[in-house]
Amino acid sequence: MTNPLPKPKYRLLLCGRGECVARAQALRLETKLLALLAQHGLDNPESIRYQLVNCLNVCHSGPILMVHPDGVMYRQVDEAGLRRIVEEHLLRGQPIAELQYHLPPLQPRRNVR
Ligand code: FES
Repeated sequence: MTNPLPKPKYRLLLCGRGECVARAQALRLETKLLALLAQHGLDNPESIRYQLVNCLNVCHSGPILMVHPDGVMYRQVDEAGLRRIVEEHLLRGQPIAELQYHLPPLQPRRNVR
């Protein structure tokens, strides 16, 4: 059995219903993202698969946009940030370091026997 959907180059997850962003703001960001994808010819299943999701568990830095398969998590996304993400990351393959959320480094365990 073959999968009828082509594998997309990127998969995008935008949070939209948790504590970091009001639903109305998430929908505005979604509208802007979809418009940018269409403007650049990325609104097809071979290029992008997009999903508005509930929460990505880092609400203190949201709204969050995740870009897979690169494993990049963009923080405090706004319309200007979306434009840069589409034009620099999705079109040119250059993730934007200063917009990314970085997990703090793991601390070594203490009192380990
Ligand atoms: S709602 Fe955005 S990370 Fe939780």
